[in-house]
Amino acid sequence: MKILVTGGSGFIGSHTVVELQAAGHQPVIVDNLYNSNREVLAGLKNIIGQDVLFYDLDCTDESAMRELFKKEKFGGVIHFAAYKAVGESVEQPLKYYQNNIDSLLILLKVMREFGVGNFVFSSSCTVYGQPDTLPVTEDTPRQPATSPYGNTKVMCEDVIRDYVYSKPNLKAISLRYFNPIGAHPSAEIGELPSGVPSNLVPYLTQAAAGLRDKLVVFGDDYDTPDGTCIRDFIHVVDLAKAHVKAIELLDMQTDANYYDVFNVGTGNGNTVLELINTFEEANDVKLNYTTGPRRPGDVEKIWAQSDKANNVLGWKAEKSLTDSLRDAWRWQLALRQRSE
Ligand code: WQD
Repeated sequence: MKILVTGGSGFIGSHTVVELQAAGHQPVIVDNLYNSNREVLAGLKNIIGQDVLFYDLDCTDESAMRELFKKEKFGGVIHFAAYKAVGESVEQPLKYYQNNIDSLLILLKVMREFGVGNFVFSSSCTVYGQPDTLPVTEDTPRQPATSPYGNTKVMCEDVIRDYVYSKPNLKAISLRYFNPIGAHPSAEIGELPSGVPSNLVPYLTQAAAGLRDKLVVFGDDYDTPDGTCIRDFIHVVDLAKAHVKAIELLDMQTDANYYDVFNVGTGNGNTVLELINTFEEANDVKLNYTTGPRRPGDVEKIWAQSDKANNVLGWKAEKSLTDSLRDAWRWQLALRQRSE
């Protein structure tokens, strides 16, 4: 199936392109390179062995998207393209609401015009806020978002749900990611944060590589075994494979109007300190870190129950935290080699 992958040169998008190709599909990337660069395309070619079709387009450009759909006969769409920096979204809410929601609305409109009926949406566990009970299931009530970024995910899920309810001949799945980390084992693609990373693992690997000041652990007075936050850290390759399973399930779905939501996590929670210790052991590297104040807006603890994805998608995370941190470090070392 020819599949449009919006944001396909981004972190999760690029890894999904690899897995789509491996599963026999033909991914087509649309990306405006706001959060990525063309080097990713070279990395993809080194992994896949051929060029991936790439269009430098903005998903909010309706006429450009219409021209694309005229040219390429897509069997489905996986929509990653969105702004995703939590902190930036607080400073520039309108930029986030306009981009993240307009891109979805335009995609759904153009898909309908061209009869493309399979749609996978990149959502996030951020929609759960701080859950009252753990692990979170898909029925755990969503909480008011703690950032405009998180709110765009809640709103986009609702747009898709309400649109499918109007029976437009759309089959859609929202995948709620937990914390994607790691990199492709080939070290040809991985996370490319712009500026100072706000996320834990890219900051950690840059600090370990001597590119950043020591890592600051944001808070050690939480109600957890070692006082640091708990997250469900999932290898980006496992996450990518969930997207292949989701688009394939939609293609087989006989109900012309279908919507469902799946948690995509390992089902295990690890504290920040456990992650740091695992990183040091996996890579035989000593990390220089300190503890500082809590980061405002951080959820204390969250991890997934992914039974539904296991049972319905036929997907289960296979890689360990050690695998993720070994691949993350290998990628950081590869980046250093490229810059030398
Ligand atoms: C993880 C833990 C921090 C940096 C965010 C988004 C979520 C998704 C993933 C897009 C927290 C701690 C972090 C540091 C630290 N993004 N930390 N020192 O906040 O769980 O999730 O990114 O979809 O939607 O909300 O991820 O990696 O920023 O933080 O101690 O320098 O690491 O306090 O407990 P988070 P994160």
